[in-house]
Amino acid sequence: MNPLFNISFSDAQLAWREKAHEIAVKYLLPNALKHDKDSSFNEEAFQAAADASMLGVWIPKEYGGSGDGILALALMVEEFSKADPAFGVAFAVNALGSIPIIVGGTEEQKAKYLPRVAAGKAACAFALSEKFAGSDAGGLSVRAIKDGDTWTIRGEKKWTTNGSRANIITCFAVTDPESRSRRISAFIVEDTDPGFSIKKLEDKMGIRSVPVCETVFDGVQVGDDRLIGGTPGLGFKHSMMTLDLARPGVAAQAVGTAAGALELATVYAGRRKQFGQAISGFQMIQSMLADMAQQTEAARWLVYATAAQADAGHKGVTKIAAMAKCFATDVAVKVATDAVQIFGGYGFMEDYPIAKYYRDAKILQIYEGTNQVQRMVIARNLIKESGDLDYYNQVIPTETQESFGAEPVTANV
Ligand code: CAA
Repeated sequence: MNPLFNISFSDAQLAWREKAHEIAVKYLLPNALKHDKDSSFNEEAFQAAADASMLGVWIPKEYGGSGDGILALALMVEEFSKADPAFGVAFAVNALGSIPIIVGGTEEQKAKYLPRVAAGKAACAFALSEKFAGSDAGGLSVRAIKDGDTWTIRGEKKWTTNGSRANIITCFAVTDPESRSRRISAFIVEDTDPGFSIKKLEDKMGIRSVPVCETVFDGVQVGDDRLIGGTPGLGFKHSMMTLDLARPGVAAQAVGTAAGALELATVYAGRRKQFGQAISGFQMIQSMLADMAQQTEAARWLVYATAAQADAGHKGVTKIAAMAKCFATDVAVKVATDAVQIFGGYGFMEDYPIAKYYRDAKILQIYEGTNQVQRMVIARNLIKESGDLDYYNQVIPTETQESFGAEPVTANV
């Protein structure tokens, strides 16, 4: 039987959600379109979040955080994303970039870096993807070569979200090209390290206010103190463990995107009059709103269940994290599309807020693992777990076929 985990919300987690809502209404909602248009980061909102100590919710107390876990992170990212999905990822990527240190770092690395992140003094990025290694995260080509006590990192990364704002970049590089399972190691690179630079700021369809960059590691030199965990070869595992804990955050961004689009569409449907009445009175609009609400609510509770499981430290979180990411992000795209439909012609106009939700939603199905990769992860885990379901063999008949002296027929069912 699948293990079940209680989903309970502590007072602290609910207070974080409330505070995130306040920041969202004050700093995000009124400025989201402007920052989208200028591709400028909402520094004011980020500072407000840092001042409220929100950048430490996922960081354990002993390293300067509040230790309120992935569930608190998800609740906050949902509220931010309801007002501005782009800010949701700008915030959540600080978790993505710092979780490799939490799950794999040495005591010294945790004590040195995590308090800076929790205090909002260091922003983070996660440099895994490359031009020729996206879904195939094991196929990296950025190299780190050791000479004496020094590792030299050379190569380029692609799609580094927050790259140009980050002070701490967790960079995944090949340290043992001959090995299959211990090929990759993770390093902590600082933005001030000589050889680190930004090559290109991407021009994007959505989440335009968050910088996504090509990052360059041109002979960045670091010591063993920057090798995450202090032992080479653990990088791929650390990247997968990190994504297991970060995917609930991106799924929460999707729930917020869907919830924001649904709320906007509902309010608009009450205001917009056609044929002498508010369009919210028409059953076809009501049917769309009802479906959007059901999908959003289902995604929301899957995300909370995943976050609760992650916080309980259950190692089987991989499958449910992939489900939450895949389901919630598909919902976000569907709900944002229907919300545009409800806004009609105005929905297509950029001076109305809803087009941005539609544009921001699309990337959710692609980053932190495409939804095709999530489905593969879900199916692989299902098939692996089916080994524990042998009690079904008592009800699935075993067929035999007579050969009457010819070659025996081998059962393949
Ligand atoms: N936890 C721990 N270990 C894991 C793991 C997990 N969740 N998943 C796999 N591993 C281990 C396996 O046990 C295996 O270990 P051994 O070699 O010791 O047996 C090893 O890792 C290799 O596993 P696989 O054989 O399953 O690896 P694979 O090459 O088939 O790939 C994959 C698996 C799931 C497709 C993986 O490559 C993947 O997740 N790809 C997507 C990458 C991704 O999500 N990129 C997102 C970038 S970040 C981003 O987008 C951020 C942003 O902009 C905001």
